[in-house]
Amino acid sequence: MEGLQLLLVDDEPDFLSELSEAIDDPDNVVTTAETPTKALEILEQSEIDIAVLDINMPQMNGLQLLERIKKNWPEIEVIMITGQGDMDSVIKAMRLGATDYFTKPFRQIEFQGAIERTRKFKQLHHKLEKVKNQYKFLSDELNGKIGTQIIGSSTHTHNIINLMNKVANAGDTSVLITGESGTGKELVARGIHFLSNRKDNYFHSVNCSAIPESLFESEFFGYNKGAFTGANNNKTGWFEISNGGTLFLDEIGDMQLNLQAKFLRVLDEKIITRVGSHKRIDLDVRIIAATNQDLEKLVEQNRFREDLYHRLNSFTIHIPPLRERKEDIAHLAEHFIDHYAQKLKKDIKIIDSGVYDYLKNLPFYGNVRELKNLIERAVIMCDSDTFDLRYLNNHKNNKKNGSAKDFTPETLNLEELEKNAIVKALELSSNNKTKAAKLLNISRQALDRRIQKMGMDI
Ligand SMILES: Nc1ncnc2c1ncn2[C@@H]1O[C@H](COP(=O)(O)OP(=O)(O)OP(=O)(O)O)[C@@H](O)[C@H]1O
Ligand SMILES: [Mg+2]
Repeated sequence: MEGLQLLLVDDEPDFLSELSEAIDDPDNVVTTAETPTKALEILEQSEIDIAVLDINMPQMNGLQLLERIKKNWPEIEVIMITGQGDMDSVIKAMRLGATDYFTKPFRQIEFQGAIERTRKFKQLHHKLEKVKNQYKFLSDELNGKIGTQIIGSSTHTHNIINLMNKVANAGDTSVLITGESGTGKELVARGIHFLSNRKDNYFHSVNCSAIPESLFESEFFGYNKGAFTGANNNKTGWFEISNGGTLFLDEIGDMQLNLQAKFLRVLDEKIITRVGSHKRIDLDVRIIAATNQDLEKLVEQNRFREDLYHRLNSFTIHIPPLRERKEDIAHLAEHFIDHYAQKLKKDIKIIDSGVYDYLKNLPFYGNVRELKNLIERAVIMCDSDTFDLRYLNNHKNNKKNGSAKDFTPETLNLEELEKNAIVKALELSSNNKTKAAKLLNISRQALDRRIQKMGMDI
């Protein structure tokens, strides 16, 4: 931990100089105040780590000042200076959140001891925050949200894992991950983070399509209390949160152009300051960006900055769609069946081989996510110890309702398309046939006839 910023508050100037002299660490920055009003002014303007307060002061007593500090700057640790034998005040101060105390007339060693304990306390607190973050990742992992395990046996998947291992410890090299929706871009990004020596720091994920320009600075850089109206507390920005770790920029293709320029500047300078602060913070952040768009095309259309593209593109990992690596399907399916069987407490002993044949022939426009959801639904339906096709057959959603280019001869079956349209309309209208008919632009009678003809069970 680097040096501390200390604020000493006492109404006796001589005592303040004595205290200041007793602080022997040259890395610490010491500020003094003879009145609580002055102390509050300093607290507003600087980033104090530890405040040392005298309990007996004429203007406002130390306990009231302690209360103000804990309310407005809860992250500041406070040490109290009490009169000899004034245990009542000590107890009150501890209840109000003071970390330590020492008595007046002071002995240098007691004072230094209090500072040292508080410094350690702050350090521990910092570590605890990190552990909490790791714990969150661990529990996410248990919930199957991360699953740093990347399942698959295709050459594509082997290549991807190989690239992840190579880039993980390559300093702060940016990584661009491309691939259709649901191919596992975020999983690969988290995997790189956890393979790297940054793993004990934060992996912070940001969805770029959701950042309005007006919030860029406050979200990415953070701000200090009072920096603007409504800034009632200090806020750590995303760069600072992920300092030493990884900042994951999801949907980078959607980042607004003027934000791209600001962002690029930070990547070049590697220094930020919070809004309302002058303190420069050095950045050591690995950027991993992901997109399902063709960034090169966006560059041609002037919708993405070329310089930023090159900056991010220094190391690219492309994840092919699942339909181009069909060997992975069986492995993934087996993994997800086991996962959900365990989670949903189903005693599945056998997986019928027909399941894999069937799955291999699905187009999976929604990629691994679609396969995962399909298996989850099927495992929920499964009521025997053999998992077979019966449980998968009501899977209708693998036909993307996308553009004409997505239709294969298989999906160009008119009857099937009509049936899907009817199912969708009924879904949207919560099975209200009059409303559904309106959505389909046909009469209620015509809808009834079609439902009957198709033998749909509604
Ligand atoms: N190879 C894999 N092994 C295990 N699970 C996978 C694999 N690939 C993807 N998944 C799982 O599929 C789901 C979708 O993956 P992820 O969210 O990483 O996709 P994405 O590419 O970021 O999608 P989007 O573009 O929609 O955000 C997740 O639950 C993920 O854990
Ligand atoms: Mg994603």
